[in-house]
Amino acid sequence: MTKDKTILRALAGETLPTPPIWMMRQAGRYLPEYRATRAEAGDFLSLCYNSELAAEVTLQPIRRYGFDASILFADILLLPQAMGMDLWFETGEGPRLSTITDQAGVDALKPADAIHDHLAPVYETVRILSRELPSETTLIGFAGAPWTVATYMIAGRGTPDQGPAHALKAENRAVFEGVINSLTDATIEYLSMQVQAGAEVIKLFDSWAGSLQGDDFDAYSLAPMQRITAELKARHPGLPIIAFPRGAGERYADARAGIGADCIAVDDAVSAEWVADNVQPGGCVQGNLASSHMVTGGDALVSETRRIVDALSGGPHIFNLGHGITPDADPENVTKMIETIRGG
Ligand code: CP3
Repeated sequence: MTKDKTILRALAGETLPTPPIWMMRQAGRYLPEYRATRAEAGDFLSLCYNSELAAEVTLQPIRRYGFDASILFADILLLPQAMGMDLWFETGEGPRLSTITDQAGVDALKPADAIHDHLAPVYETVRILSRELPSETTLIGFAGAPWTVATYMIAGRGTPDQGPAHALKAENRAVFEGVINSLTDATIEYLSMQVQAGAEVIKLFDSWAGSLQGDDFDAYSLAPMQRITAELKARHPGLPIIAFPRGAGERYADARAGIGADCIAVDDAVSAEWVADNVQPGGCVQGNLASSHMVTGGDALVSETRRIVDALSGGPHIFNLGHGITPDADPENVTKMIETIRGG
């Protein structure tokens, strides 16, 4: 591992003249080469479990754009599948899972050390990538944070307000906490294996953190991510961790201390100026261009990109979007964003 990698330097707290760049969902349906490889694999999950093709789609945006980081191609829902739950994707609708509603469902989950056979293709993807990536490109491994993954395991699908998970939390807290604790244990083992296979940085996606309020945010978003972070850092000294409690709003200000993460990723609901004043003083930040600019482009894309770079130029910053790039994005707009950042 070399500290010449710009992402690692930013994560270590260095303020760079030009922020390093990557994009959430940078391997995705907006790229024709991704759509071709996905068709070759058959479907999305087959692509995730085909190590050669998953590595290929991970490399595609690196070849096309020269991003400073690549993120392992996989999905946050592979872990519940490895724990014994059913998982499938309905075309045009998104993920579907079997559901957990009672203690028997928690008891049926496989223990943390029994997930690795199922996830072996993911670890193999990481090994291929750590061989094949350009030497300046950082390899990021990831998992969903326990709360976000639990919302899918409890509802059996994505939900606009995470209602079923909130209901279980209110009605049967022991079962709810059983899901969170099982996931926290399994996530530690899963990520530790990604690091052993060659991941240099770990990112935790808490995409639905914003629907947890007050003490629940501390107990079910921050605390599980803190436990995962502390254990991974104990096992892998020096491992940088990026945490993304999406939708945290003003709670972004104390997320770094609450989690112990090296970098806090922010969505686009907070301004870059607010982030500079309230999140960046503690260390590296990542984000927060609205992904809609990748669809609409034009002068607004350029001026908003410049505004974020300027606002966060006084401290460590990794340029990224506020959420994943969408299938309707124009690949040319990504080029334009990168030129705006790197070309001044
Ligand atoms: O960022 C990357 O490029 C790395 C790979 C990655 C994917 N999903 C690939 C993917 C990562 C890090 C994720 C995380 C993920 N997956 C999250 C957290 C981040 C977020 O977006 O909030 C969540 C909630 C999921 C669950 C998930 N996976 C949903 C809800 C969907 C359907 C939505 C959609 O865009 O269709 C997926 C599918 C998915 N995961 C796709 C990709 C590239 C699209 C699948 C396809 O090719 O059809």
